[in-house]
Amino acid sequence: MSATKLSVSEKQTLVEAARLARKNAYAPYSRYLVGAAVLDEHGRIHVGCNVENAAYPEGLCAEAGALSAMVLSGGRRARAVVVVGAGGTWVTPCGGCRQKLREFCDADTPILTANEQDLGPTYTLEQLLPASFGPEHLTKR
Ligand code: THU
Repeated sequence: MSATKLSVSEKQTLVEAARLARKNAYAPYSRYLVGAAVLDEHGRIHVGCNVENAAYPEGLCAEAGALSAMVLSGGRRARAVVVVGAGGTWVTPCGGCRQKLREFCDADTPILTANEQDLGPTYTLEQLLPASFGPEHLTKR
């Protein structure tokens, strides 16, 4: 599926969903709250927040939670993704999340950044993870 342009209201709804999810983030160790929202191929929105753990590496990123929710409800393609962090710097998906997103996004799928008030830069998945490894590699063994 190629990226269809998001309408203004779709974008607003998606960003608001990620901001709302961020409010439920469990981040007592980093105190860095993150929310994410994914728009799937059916037009549905799935959200996630970061969930940290006293055993630090066991923490979960917001994007991973949102993708998991999408898959659980039958969604298989992400049309757009929003990641919301705190003001200051724009949160972009971490390396591991870029690979997780790679599974369900197209090269031109928009990945929006935002904070509580504003929108930050939008990237394509290809910009965040160039020359990436994906499912099609496994069909060329
Ligand atoms: N975090 C995310 O949830 N998504 C990202 O892409 C960047 C980092 C979380 C993980 C951890 O709970 C906190 O932000 C600080 O790294």
